[in-house]
Amino acid sequence: MAPQFGNVVNSLAKAFNVSSYLELGLDRCVTIQMVKESLPDCYCFGVDLRVSVKDGDFDYYEGTTDSFFEQNTKTFDLIFIDADHSHISAAKDLANALKILNKHGVILMHDMDPSREELFHPTRCGDCYKLNKLFPTLNVNYVTIPVDSEGITIITKKDNLRCAHKL
Ligand SMILES: C[S@@+](CC[C@H](N)C(=O)[O-])C[C@H]1O[C@@H](n2cnc3c(N)ncnc32)[C@H](O)[C@@H]1O
Repeated sequence: MAPQFGNVVNSLAKAFNVSSYLELGLDRCVTIQMVKESLPDCYCFGVDLRVSVKDGDFDYYEGTTDSFFEQNTKTFDLIFIDADHSHISAAKDLANALKILNKHGVILMHDMDPSREELFHPTRCGDCYKLNKLFPTLNVNYVTIPVDSEGITIITKKDNLRCAHKL
């Protein structure tokens, strides 16, 4: 079966009807372009060391995610983290993403549940799966689901439930 993670990201973007989408790590820009096609009014922004599609219908920052966050002032409804897969970089990307997440926003992280030994290689999923152990120490709700061989984690802020005032 063809990889499903892009469809999962796109389906959630559509289901949440997001107005703004940030993708960290674009590769061939397939997912960000899918989201833009599904939601033409959604502001889409991508970050990559080398942006492969420069005339797409999205804004971008070319450089590291660290340098992007140093100068960024934008906030987003949906953030897909899929850049450097070392747990140190992924933890930094998550901490920075949480700071710029809009109210009721959602963060997705790719490569969080590798299903085969070879996927633990730094050029594949790396060791960002280690963040599964970090989540319980953060103020987040999270679930890691077995999408494709790599897995995806869905994260929201704990104090961000729409019904929080009723609890
Ligand atoms: C797995 S690919 C992204 C796939 C893409 N999200 C998709 O849905 O098709 C990872 C990308 O992250 C980029 N990358 C790796 N380390 C990075 C960093 N520190 N800052 C920005 N981009 C990075 C790589 O250049 C590569 O294009």
